[in-house]
Amino acid sequence: MIPRAVAAVNEQRLWERLMAMAKLGAIPGDGVNRACLTPLDREARRLLIGWSREAGAEISVDAAANLWLRRAGRDNAAAPVLTGSHMDTQPNGGRFDGIYGVLAGLEVLSALHDAGTETARPVEVVAWTNEEGGRFAPGCMGSMAWSGFKPIEAFADVTDPEGTRFADALAEHLAAEADLPRRALGHTPHAYVEAHIEQGPRLENGALDIGVVTGIQGSRWFTVTLTGETAHAGTTPLRLRRDAVQDMVRAVTALNVLMHDPADVLRFTVGRVAVQPNTSNSVADRVTFSIDFRHPDKDVLIARGDAIAGVVQAAVRDAGVSVHESFHALPVAFDPRVIGAVNAAAEACGCTRMEMPSGAFHDAQFVVPVAPTGMIFVPCRKGISHNPAEYAEPHHLAAGARVLAHSLLALAEG
Ligand code: GLV
Ligand code: MN
Ligand code: MN
Repeated sequence: MIPRAVAAVNEQRLWERLMAMAKLGAIPGDGVNRACLTPLDREARRLLIGWSREAGAEISVDAAANLWLRRAGRDNAAAPVLTGSHMDTQPNGGRFDGIYGVLAGLEVLSALHDAGTETARPVEVVAWTNEEGGRFAPGCMGSMAWSGFKPIEAFADVTDPEGTRFADALAEHLAAEADLPRRALGHTPHAYVEAHIEQGPRLENGALDIGVVTGIQGSRWFTVTLTGETAHAGTTPLRLRRDAVQDMVRAVTALNVLMHDPADVLRFTVGRVAVQPNTSNSVADRVTFSIDFRHPDKDVLIARGDAIAGVVQAAVRDAGVSVHESFHALPVAFDPRVIGAVNAAAEACGCTRMEMPSGAFHDAQFVVPVAPTGMIFVPCRKGISHNPAEYAEPHHLAAGARVLAHSLLALAEG
């Protein structure tokens, strides 16, 4: 017999809430573009707050604009069990990445409410600020600030593509949420479990319901700036140019050699390029490009990541080089107690499952040093994510929410 609150997880309600959220920032092809700390983000948070109040939750917000929903426990002073994820999306994002984990957490609160279930410990749901890093790089700012990994002030001068400072966007956002009670950054939950779509094809290929996540590979982000000199494209001999685009090509070619991995475990992406003055008939005087580098082995992550600046410097011919590292997240292993609770929950809920690591980073990575942590994955179609075509089946999403409810209930009694 599964607990009443687990049986009270409502597939239709969860799906309808996901689809209502997907309207906020909808883009062609069923996608969503909802950048963090924008009016759309605030609209989505208000929708979430309204539903949470119906489920009897108390709302609060912290200095990093992380949004907290809390359901009291019998011992309200006990450390809470915590779940959550993020509500921001990639500019060309889908309907499930992040928001599923927040709404699955809310579904647990609603199911506890409907079933009239009391838990020994409080249950909390958090919507972390800026997980994606799509507007302000890097991602995971909210969870990094909460966990003490980096103070929120460290991100103050990061600007979005329009030149807005993170500190200004945060201040504007917190002013718009001044009616919400404030809570201090940081506290130690009893355990943290985050639900998320897999964002890869393994569960679907194995016809499995649940991924029991064992850890997250490491990630490092860099911004490379190459400074040359602008010149007339028709008149300036090539040998006299300091062409930042040509030097970017040299740098990326050399980085592809550094990052070569016949086993195809390493991930290396140049996903953002900004060129100045960005016209067809002028030589570029400035190129900025991003590097997203990931590996599950800490030694490889450190050795090859540390080699990036030297490789770029050696590869360019004419431009000045600056390399700035904005994100450095080492691989993490999740806690066996949480992995055990998720395995037991999947078993009790009749879900097929496999243990697997995460290739994507998540806020859970920054909760690991603070509390026993784990994650639950549900399948997504063809593993497509960071793409408007992202899709997950309602019954898989509901199964994930049931496994989440079961895991949190078990951890809340411990
Ligand atoms: C998270 O969105 C990631 O890029 O892994
Ligand atoms: Mn995500
Ligand atoms: Mn994402």
